[in-house]
Amino acid sequence: MIEKITGPVFEYLAEDKRLIELARKVGLPLGGTFFVGGQTLDETVGTVQTLNQDGRAATIDCLGEFIESEKDAIDIADECIKVIHRISEDQLNAQISLKLTSVGLRLNPEIAFAQMTRILETAERFDMRVTINMEEEAVCESIIRVFERLRTRFSNVGIALQANLYRTRFDLERLQSTVRVVKGAYTGPADIYIERKETVDATYLQLVKQNLLQGCYTQVATHDEDMIQDIVEFVHQQGIGYDQFEFQMLQGMRPNRQKELVEEGFRVVIYVPHGVDWYTYLMKRLAERPANIVFTAISMLRL
Ligand code: FDA
Repeated sequence: MIEKITGPVFEYLAEDKRLIELARKVGLPLGGTFFVGGQTLDETVGTVQTLNQDGRAATIDCLGEFIESEKDAIDIADECIKVIHRISEDQLNAQISLKLTSVGLRLNPEIAFAQMTRILETAERFDMRVTINMEEEAVCESIIRVFERLRTRFSNVGIALQANLYRTRFDLERLQSTVRVVKGAYTGPADIYIERKETVDATYLQLVKQNLLQGCYTQVATHDEDMIQDIVEFVHQQGIGYDQFEFQMLQGMRPNRQKELVEEGFRVVIYVPHGVDWYTYLMKRLAERPANIVFTAISMLRL
């Protein structure tokens, strides 16, 4: 209910160009690194080192919103390549995530393909995985097509798929690949997006299980304890090894549970947003699920 009011407000704030510019100048507020690894590479490396200390790995997301030119796309790809080198130099337990729109997908899918090729060539040298985030449904097919082309050449590339899209179970079957399964952060028409939360949850579990049974490495990205418990039970029943999947959570969400999962012997990877575009990322997170404000506040108190 409250989402209907706060969602559009945060969506509006996320897109306000003056606020985006102001946020870049002002920098991360106190406590901002709860959600964002850092604006600078040194800050993000510090965040990842803290995670690594207790056995949590990281996937560093090079944030990039509203790119307007091929040069912007190249700048984001350069930043990703810089991050990959730094991960290697500092021997961090980390990998990379990014959106294809941040490297030019909307300008021309060939630009995104070219920039991803540069990023993947660098990551491959260091045996590092790169995960392509999934975005709104309008660009889903285009993202999957670029991923399919990249995959023929690179084995270190994976993709996120969303449980709240009707098309996803067909995509999962089509791809037979390393997949990060998420519930989905975007909404839209009812013939494209599943609206009922119960159905999204049930679909989420089906997709994770389907990908595991297909023998594909699966990134179980959720903070939902019911999902986590169900998957733990499933892998035990099916005799699926702990090296076949990992749990993923967002930076700042359920830090205590993240550590517990490591102690229980699971591989845990934390999604760490990096860069000056932290403001838009944060507003979008609050827009999609305002309840996360409360969860985040609780998480901050628990730290
Ligand atoms: P949901 O939001 O339905 O929450 C379910 C339950 O989880 C809550 O009722 C509560 O019990 C518990 N919970 C949630 N947060 C909590 C907290 N902080 N503390 C305690 N309990 C909490 N989306 C997308 O569209 N494309 C993408 O590429 C990605 N990538 C991505 C990577 C990673 C690593 C993650 C974790 C998520 C994404 N997402 C994403 C976002 C995803 O689609 C989804 O919006 C969020 O993960 C929220 O969904 P949950 O699965 O956490 O459950």
